Amino acid sequence: MAALKYAGMDDTDSDDELPPGWEERSTRDGWVYYANHDEMKTQWEHPKTGKKKRCAGDLPYGWEQETDEKGQIVYVDHINKRTTYFDPRQAFTVEDVVVKPKRYDGNTAALEILQGRDLSDKVVLITGGNSGIGFETARSFALHGAHVILACRNLSRAIKAVNVIQQEWHKARVEAMMCDLASLRSVREFAESFKARKLPLHVLVCNAAVCTQPWSFTEDGLESTFQICHLGHFLLVQCLQDVLRCSAPARVVVVSSESHRFTDLLDSCGKVDLALLSPSKKEYWSMLAYNRAKLCNILFSNELHRRLSPHGVTSNAVHPGNMMYTSIHQSWWLMTFLFTLARPFTKSMQQGAATTVYCAMAPELEGLGGMYFNNCFRCLPSIQAQDQSSAVSLWELSERGDGRRFGTNSGIS
Ligand SMILES: NC(=O)c1ccc[n+]([C@@H]2O[C@H](COP(=O)([O-])OP(=O)(O)OC[C@H]3O[C@@H](n4cnc5c(N)ncnc54)[C@H](OP(=O)(O)O)[C@@H]3O)[C@@H](O)[C@H]2O)c1
Repeated sequence: MAALKYAGMDDTDSDDELPPGWEERSTRDGWVYYANHDEMKTQWEHPKTGKKKRCAGDLPYGWEQETDEKGQIVYVDHINKRTTYFDPRQAFTVEDVVVKPKRYDGNTAALEILQGRDLSDKVVLITGGNSGIGFETARSFALHGAHVILACRNLSRAIKAVNVIQQEWHKARVEAMMCDLASLRSVREFAESFKARKLPLHVLVCNAAVCTQPWSFTEDGLESTFQICHLGHFLLVQCLQDVLRCSAPARVVVVSSESHRFTDLLDSCGKVDLALLSPSKKEYWSMLAYNRAKLCNILFSNELHRRLSPHGVTSNAVHPGNMMYTSIHQSWWLMTFLFTLARPFTKSMQQGAATTVYCAMAPELEGLGGMYFNNCFRCLPSIQAQDQSSAVSLWELSERGDGRRFGTNSGIS
């Protein structure tokens, strides 16, 4: 793992390049000074630009300042197991200039966005964090010190994922908890166990999904794709909303898809229709069910933001990328075939996780939500996904359950 890269130490800045014989050092409290070995002198000003600098913030996550046997300050990178006299904070020195937010795009990796960030005061919960994009998202947060909880339906797969991350960084605070989104009882039990731990919750990533799986009903009497992708997450957020509010500023990121554009949720009277969302076996087409669930994700995120942002909790929806080779295609041979053909041209998992990580952590998005992002960039979702009355109808339907036995009274008005 290139912790040096996350720390920004591979960046060079030609204006700042030192003349021969000079070396940049920093004091214990972060002031930068310049040493000239030929002339045996030190000074605070940069020998070329004349500017003074000091290190911004703390050492990158995983680094510690120590003193060697000669009394010299050294910096130990525990993740890469290396020691250097160069203060890694020098990659983040501040002068009297305004730092503009960095621009990211479809090629940006999640770890690049978190470069230099210490997230050790953050608690992050990710549904379906044991594989694919969710796993890369979890890994990226954990390698930057966040306490990450993987909420997964299969505990042994989730524990394997935890072990992989901890093998990479033994101090990673990542753990697995059981949460099957196909069971409202399991979601409630998960929320109770989570709350019993009295942890804050700064980021909730609604990532888990299934796609093109054969028709099945859940124990709650609903079509599985709809329940796993939308209703399970809806209930999870309701159950944890008090924790999110107490942890404000907190962010929810709902992982949707561009495929939301190929469908709608309205019946002939223009109302959000449960029969379309949770169809019978006769009416079911697996791809359509997925597209509808992904449209629900955006409508849910928008309405959640409208209701919770006055309490310091924002929500954004994201498209992670097209046809990335995860496990999502495995329920149908045709999808597997198409994903295999597309594989050489699609994003890496790290790139797939980037937009979620961006929405969860970008300082410039503090307090902002109700938006849809693709390639770390805000874009407009389909017309129906922007429609507030559809969002309200979906919310009420999810909460009320139209007389069926799902949902909960959210108390989010
Ligand atoms: N891959 C793409 O090209 C693509 C494109 C657009 C959007 N997306 C979105 O990206 C997100 C992540 O998908 P992915 O591609 O990374 O797929 P993935 O590797 O199949 O990950 C999906 C995750 O959801 C979990 N999950 C499934 N059913 C669950 C349930 N009942 N309860 C709890 N967790 C459950 C899976 O757990 P198991 O391991 O136990 O199955 C898995 O961890 C999804 O929201 C998907 O719609 C993906």
